[in-house]
Parts: sequence; structure tokens; C-alpha cells
Amino acid sequence: MFYLISIIGSGRVGASIAFLCVANELDDVLLLNRTKDKALGESMDIANAIPSTSKFSIRGTDDYSDLSDSSIIVIAASRGSYTKDRTENIKSQVDMIKEIAEKVKQYCPSAIILVVSNPPDVLTYFFQKESDFSRFKVIGIASSLDSSRFRYFISEIFSVTQSSISNALVLGEHGDSLVPIFSNVSVNGSELNSLINDITRESLINNIRGYWKQLRNYKSRSHFGIAKNTYDVIHAIIDTKELFIPASIVLEGEYGEYDVSMGIPVKINKNGVFEIQKINLDESEKSMLKESAKKIRNDINSV
Ligand code: LAC
Repeated sequence: MFYLISIIGSGRVGASIAFLCVANELDDVLLLNRTKDKALGESMDIANAIPSTSKFSIRGTDDYSDLSDSSIIVIAASRGSYTKDRTENIKSQVDMIKEIAEKVKQYCPSAIILVVSNPPDVLTYFFQKESDFSRFKVIGIASSLDSSRFRYFISEIFSVTQSSISNALVLGEHGDSLVPIFSNVSVNGSELNSLINDITRESLINNIRGYWKQLRNYKSRSHFGIAKNTYDVIHAIIDTKELFIPASIVLEGEYGEYDVSMGIPVKINKNGVFEIQKINLDESEKSMLKESAKKIRNDINSV
């Protein structure tokens, strides 16, 4: 079966995702951008990364009707930049996602949607409400990125490879209320909680929350990390693999939450989210996750 992977937004993030899909021969890729030249330029460049063995191509466009037959739509578009908080442009981002939802509903009503644009939890919520797509087919990608940062910091603290760390999950908002789940993590088989004190725990939480700002002291913004985390989901959908990650979906009672989209542990396959994983949380993690859901709900209601 052939897929078409359409990426809306050809900035650094969208182009990096397109590059990974093309270089790994996942399937045909369409790069869409409001400024057509941007989409054309990036696709011309990425076209030179198509392996000689590949059956696939990449095209650039500004025409939404080209989205027809897309199996996967990645939304990496943005109407403005932010410096202090990912919700700075929330109103214009929500207006944008509503416009995109209308067009996607018109041209590819059965596609799986991956929402990467910030703030991803709020935008996942509005896309799902606006499109009325199954909540299992509208997936916000970012908690897996936060989890990779959690893993990275643990590997640095203990000078171990990331493969020695298991279950380093971050749930909740992709933002300042994110919740690293310490209680399930082990390092070379030992429980993380038995290896660190509260000071280290606190600094780990702050480092994960502040990572994107720290990174901006050295480069304009992140794109490789989020691109690879998005690519992994596309790969799971296309190669019908099962992928277990934290991702943002609209909740209907899971983890005690309604009317919000936030990062929870899910299993993804060719049909999108096929299972929501219930994991054990300690009391502090439960209350932090409740606070995170509240923060996202407040953002949703602020629009
Ligand atoms: C970050 C952006 C992708 O966390 O929100 O780097």
C-alpha cells in the first residue's frame, strides 16, 4: 500500500521531518507551505537525499488540494515565533489550526494527524474538536521529545548509555508543567528513585522544563529532536510496527481527565493510537499531572 506523507509547514522542523522520511525511503512526501517558494526550495534540496534505491519522491506546494490521498498529515506550521513561553501566540496558532483542520477534513478525511506545532496539547485539542476526527487519529508529538531529554540527563548524571535507562517517561503538558515520572525509571536495573535525592530530582525537572530555552542560547531553535520523534511515529504507522511512547491525545476520563489533550502513555500502529497505557504513578506524580491538565485546560479556555 502506498502512503503519502504530507507535512504542513516547511520550516526547520517540517523540513527536518521530510528529510528523515525521504532519506529512510518511508514513502512519498509532500511539503506544503503558505510561501510556495519555501516549500519548493526545501523539497529541491531534500530531493538530493533520495537514495538511488528509492521508489519515492518529494514535492513542494502551497495548494491544499494536493493533500488529497494523504495517509499521514504532519502539522509543523507556525504563525509566529515565541521566546518566553510556547503559548505566546496561542490565539493565532489556534486560528491557524482551525483553518488547517477545515482543509484537511475536505481533502483527506481519513488521514492520521500528527500535531507538532506549539503549543501541541492545545492545538491537538482544537484540531480534534474542529475536525471531529477520531481522537485516536489526532496525536500531539512532544512528550516523547521531553522523555528523550529526561533520558539524556539521566545518562549524563550516571555516565551510562541511554540504553541502560528504562521507562524514562514525561507526561502532561509539553511546557513548564510537564511531569517526569521518576517512579518507573530504572538505571542498569536499579530504581532511579533509590539513586537520587530531592535536590537532584528538582534539578532534573527544571532542566527538562528549561531545555528548549537553554538550547536557544546556542542555536535559534530545536528541530532535530522533535523531527526524529515525529519520524518514529510516521515509521510505526507506515511499517505497521507498534510504538510505545507518551503522546498528546484528547482524554475522555483516562488518568481522571476530561476535555483536555495532554501527554499520556499510548501505543501507536497503522491505525493511530490503538491502546492507552495505564501506568502506576506515585501521589506526587498524580497531583502534578492533575495540575498539568488544569494548566492546559486554562490555556484552552483562554482562547
Ligand atoms: C522544544 C520545542 C519543539 O521543546 O517545543 O524544543
